[in-house]
Amino acid sequence: MFGFLKKDKVIETPAVVPAHIGVIMDGNGRWAKKRMQPRVFGHKAGMDALRKVAIAASDMGVKVMTVYAFSTENWTRPDQEVKFIMNLPVEFYDKYVPELHQKNMKIQMIGETDRLPKQTFNALKKAEELTKLNTGLILNFALNYGGRAEITQALKLIAEEVSDGKISSADIDEELIGDYLFTGHLPREFRDPDLIIRTSGELRLSNFLPWQAAYSELYFTDVLWPDFDEQALKEAIAEFNRRNRRFGGV
Ligand code: FPP
Repeated sequence: MFGFLKKDKVIETPAVVPAHIGVIMDGNGRWAKKRMQPRVFGHKAGMDALRKVAIAASDMGVKVMTVYAFSTENWTRPDQEVKFIMNLPVEFYDKYVPELHQKNMKIQMIGETDRLPKQTFNALKKAEELTKLNTGLILNFALNYGGRAEITQALKLIAEEVSDGKISSADIDEELIGDYLFTGHLPREFRDPDLIIRTSGELRLSNFLPWQAAYSELYFTDVLWPDFDEQALKEAIAEFNRRNRRFGGV
């Protein structure tokens, strides 16, 4: 039986692997502070952690991993920090995308991405283009993402379609709304995360996928994002396996 070491005991590889995992990568700043380093040092380490966790998820057969890399609220951070984070996709593209491409990962993005700085947007666009025919893990970057803004834009688009006579209000159902959300590009069966992980001990969703998270299992850990690794991912999935998902049934 395969297993992995947790301190002194072996934890079995979880039986069920969630198809879609959402990750709120929190705690980079605190991780850096603990090392008496500037906050951006933590973001850099956070990017390296993301590469490793994406590879681990891909090896375990996860279909979609949506990572909250920058929220619409994060613009209020100091200019230098915002600039640094906005440059990470450029660095990520040069340093890690070739490897992820080789591992058959498909990179996509969600959010108000047209408002990102040009070089940030271009790096992600290039990654999307390069990996668009891949059939493995979809690594979905939420950048300049806000869940309420996402629902608002979906409602506007649907209202326009109704007023243009393309659809009737009777056609509006949950599936149709799902088509108009940023996650509408994902295969229907994988749009909603089965599991959402938030690192660093905060117990909130912070406007991350509020529609899609309706039935997600939530997993909170004190581990700071740069320390989150394959073992931490397996622990989260093991906990997911202990939950009893009833979707409102009995
Ligand atoms: C939250 O930690 C983290 C962020 C807002 C940035 C997340 C970005 C990455 C992990 C890198 C992503 C990589 C790419 C390629 C975009 P925090 O700064 O709020 O930490 P704190 O709560 O300890 O201050």
